[in-house]
Amino acid sequence: MANRKKIAVLFSGKGSNFAHIVNTLHKKECDVVVALTNNPKAEGIKIAKEASIPLEVIDSKAYESREAFDSVVVERLEAYQPELTVLAGFMRILTPLFTEQIKSINLHPSLLPRHKGLKAIEKSYEDEYTNGGVSVHYVSSELDGGEVILQKEIAKEGLSFEAYDEKIRSIEKEALAEAIRKVLD
Ligand code: GAR
Repeated sequence: MANRKKIAVLFSGKGSNFAHIVNTLHKKECDVVVALTNNPKAEGIKIAKEASIPLEVIDSKAYESREAFDSVVVERLEAYQPELTVLAGFMRILTPLFTEQIKSINLHPSLLPRHKGLKAIEKSYEDEYTNGGVSVHYVSSELDGGEVILQKEIAKEGLSFEAYDEKIRSIEKEALAEAIRKVLD
């Protein structure tokens, strides 16, 4: 019988990074035991359904406080006993209620500590550096501030914004898969 480690994946939108995890790691190197989204309209929902991965939809708009939302998320996740929770495009600021109870990693599309928060790809493209990139880091209560696990960088020279964006979207998938392997190892 397979004795793979269990992970949870959280997403808010398109879910292309979630799809990459499903296609490359799921049922091979680890098992995605639950997918969770805060957005009932997230496109990633259909990826979970197609792969028959248990899905939890917890609409963040229905909660009055971040803490109230986080406590429901923690409770649902704990029912699946994941060894690691992966934030793959999960666009929520998390409180210590989550960060102190759930071992989790986050993908961010910049070379942290540069450009924390939203619009990181645009900000990286426009900044003064010749390179940009992506980071995977442990989640702490500081937004995009936990210990970095790994980073991948690319040169910006000669790239249009569209080409830069496309490269970032490609290397972030490799970075996330590599970081999951590293943390589960
Ligand atoms: C990705 O580019 C990811 O790096 C970014 O959201 C996108 C989600 O895409 N995450 C953040 O900006 C986190 N602060 P996806 O839904 O297609 O995986």
